[in-house]
Amino acid sequence: MSRYGIAGHAANALGSLTAEEVDFLRDLPKAELHAHLNGCIPISLLQKLANEADLSSSAVGSDVVKAGIERLKAGVELNEINDFFGLFPAIYALTASPATLAEATRAVLAQFLEPDPLAPRGQPMAAYLELRTTPRATQAMSRREYLEAVLAEVERYPPTRAALIVSLDRRMDASAAEEVVGLAVQLKQEGRRVVGVDLCGDPLAGNMADFEQFFRRAKEAGLGVTLHIAETPDNTHEDTLKLLSFKPDRLGHATFLDANARDAVFSNNACVEICLTSNLLCKTASSLEQHHIRHYLEANHPIAICTDDTLPFRNNLLGEYALLLAKAPLGLGLTRTDVERISAMSMASRFAVPASRPMV
Ligand code: IMP
Ligand code: ZN
Repeated sequence: MSRYGIAGHAANALGSLTAEEVDFLRDLPKAELHAHLNGCIPISLLQKLANEADLSSSAVGSDVVKAGIERLKAGVELNEINDFFGLFPAIYALTASPATLAEATRAVLAQFLEPDPLAPRGQPMAAYLELRTTPRATQAMSRREYLEAVLAEVERYPPTRAALIVSLDRRMDASAAEEVVGLAVQLKQEGRRVVGVDLCGDPLAGNMADFEQFFRRAKEAGLGVTLHIAETPDNTHEDTLKLLSFKPDRLGHATFLDANARDAVFSNNACVEICLTSNLLCKTASSLEQHHIRHYLEANHPIAICTDDTLPFRNNLLGEYALLLAKAPLGLGLTRTDVERISAMSMASRFAVPASRPMV
């Protein structure tokens, strides 16, 4: 771990900057729009939850949880994106009750939104966070209780700082997807801080035509829609076009778009959530030089720089911005003006821009 509490690509980029450059990045108002709750739990809290957990009635035994934590502590080595999904059962065993889930949510919100003790003026990582999570029914809570536990923590912050996106997993069957979208709509109608829905999970699972009705319902209810799309080279053209036909407001990754699909994205102006470290570690981008962010920068297309999963990727939002500013090969070598413009694009792509504040 570097002195910034992170490791790997983002740490190296941050370490190459002057103190003044780091301060410039800290001062930028940044919106974190793509962060998965259970993928962003601080490792120290996960360890504490593991020490306190009674896993006797859990499907995942304490040996599996212990091994999972050791793997996360050491820094995961992923050979392909599928290795990544195997990390979650151990984490899920530790956030299976409303109390532990609330504790995890509080820590994730604090990590992004509270003053950073390492920053000279306590600047937080993010000015604004749209946290996303997939509601799970467990022995101790229903999906609605899951979302209520998370929302109670999100709503401790003002709407100008935090909101919730409800994720649907590509592995869900129709009845689960219907329940999850129904809950997102219902909670929004009850005045709770749900601003959007997401599609995530194993990028090759599920038939996307089956999900169309659920995203239509979310849109009709005024929720924002973001979709993980074209995350791997094995995602078919049909899969990508089907997802684009849902008219999403934002796209997660959008890594392997062919020219047709990219034109469609350019013309409908959907913001692309870019997760540099995530793509490098999951080996869906071979280098920064080859990263698809370049297409979007060249086209001046809206993007938002995001962390995805700070727990396995050992990154933070400051480090992701350092990857923009640092000189090649550690970073993309963008100018301060470019980086400022990118942070403004992230703020402008929030699902819920509070009415009293001007668009950035
Ligand atoms: P949760 O939704 O709070 O449980 O966060 C973890 C979940 O997010 C994982 O089980 C995956 O389904 C999903 N997830 C996290 N990162 C990615 C990604 O890069 N691609 C697709 N799904 C992801
Ligand atoms: Zn993601």
